[in-house]
Amino acid sequence: MLLRKGRLGGIDSDVLEFISSREADAWITQADLDVDRAHLVMLQEQGLIGPQERGLIWQAISEIEADPNLLGEGEDVHEAIEAYVIARAGPSGGRMHTGRSRNDEVATCIRLALRGQMLGLFDELLSLESTLVELAARHAADLVPGFTHLQHAQPTTLGHHLLAHADALHRDCQRLEDAYSRINRSPLGAAAFASTGFPIDRDRTAELLGFDGLVENSMDAVSSRDFLLETLCALSIMMVNLSRMAEEVILWSTQEFGYLEIDDLFASTSSIMPQKKNPDTAELVRGKTGSVIGCLVSALATAKALPMSYNRDLQEITPNLWRAVSIARSALRIMDGCYQSLRFSLARLEESAGAGFSTATELADSLVRVTGIPFRTAHQIVGRLAAAGQAPNPDDLDRAGQEVAKVKPSQMGYSADMLRHALDPHGNVAVRNRPGGPAPSEVRRMVRRRRSLIRQAQKRSDQRREKAEGALQRLRKTA
Ligand code: ARG
Repeated sequence: MLLRKGRLGGIDSDVLEFISSREADAWITQADLDVDRAHLVMLQEQGLIGPQERGLIWQAISEIEADPNLLGEGEDVHEAIEAYVIARAGPSGGRMHTGRSRNDEVATCIRLALRGQMLGLFDELLSLESTLVELAARHAADLVPGFTHLQHAQPTTLGHHLLAHADALHRDCQRLEDAYSRINRSPLGAAAFASTGFPIDRDRTAELLGFDGLVENSMDAVSSRDFLLETLCALSIMMVNLSRMAEEVILWSTQEFGYLEIDDLFASTSSIMPQKKNPDTAELVRGKTGSVIGCLVSALATAKALPMSYNRDLQEITPNLWRAVSIARSALRIMDGCYQSLRFSLARLEESAGAGFSTATELADSLVRVTGIPFRTAHQIVGRLAAAGQAPNPDDLDRAGQEVAKVKPSQMGYSADMLRHALDPHGNVAVRNRPGGPAPSEVRRMVRRRRSLIRQAQKRSDQRREKAEGALQRLRKTA
């Protein structure tokens, strides 16, 4: 064991397994090789290592990159890489760790690897958002029932409903972009926590790795994981949003609702009931949301009582991040495919949109607009009609008006035609064309606006990728 040799001596396999982070370190192996390269370039530029020594170490790193199975034992990937480098390059391989510690190294690796994951995630998130927006465009005028308390409330349009989910996802995107700006900062060069007396150049390694700047204070740099916690927070909120979408797919695909059918690809069947088509993928999006929330809670609980600066407990936090990221990314892809292939039963949705006297609000509103009675009075008149439980005709309306408020709408300019119109679900959504409303014209306007917001977000993401991956590609090609 490379690190224990001077101070400690051998280790028991049970202890080694207990303290090892090797399994989770698979997520940061590539990042570590890139961090090593950036550090080496800087060490040479600063005259802290000779070109020949750097060449030997570089060669060993490239070998590991080509075949990570070359790595032998070590309590973490950092030790295993250094051990391989020294085995291949000889004692001068031991110069690689000049002016740094595993503490700044691992913090840099996590940020670098997370950055790559986030760039993939932005694409997946924006793709799902775009799927919802395009579905909304297609269904801008198709009626669906709107619910409150899961009871029929008012008719709305499918486009309006889908855009509500899209907008929630857009805020998820904004939260994650905000987190990205704090993820993409370099702790490298902080060393154990107290910086170093070697004349290293922290800005240079940050630049080589495509970071947007430093985590400046060397103690903060090695001991803070709030970038990770806020990412877990934003991912948890995003999963909650996906889970609500999944819940609706599950509910709407039941016999009882009959609003949509999911594609076979996203369904499972029963081992005993041959007729079954179950929405298992949506159920697992809902179920895995619990796992992601668990990752957040676990990470917060581990972080909360750590004194400055590095403590090994921090190692226990990191796997929560990778678990949450991988669940979140797959959930985004599954929901995208699932929504793209949904078959909506538009006739059933339209029929259901008008059920349960869902036009009652518009009836009350129209009474106010035409007769000038106060809204509360109209609300009480229509409430009386609703209690009677049948579709009202003009006589019913007058009778209810008389009973509740001693008014007869028919004598105040409210015609049978107006009543018919108020009871038409299509008319209900058409007049609700204020900003954000369900009217087809308003849905189409919102679709146009969201297309442009998605394009802008995609452009920001592409620019981040270009900067991050461009830097790494140049670094790897450095001779
Ligand atoms: N595997 C460790 C981690 O994930 C790397 C840093 C080890 N540092 C130390 N001082 N033991 O945190």
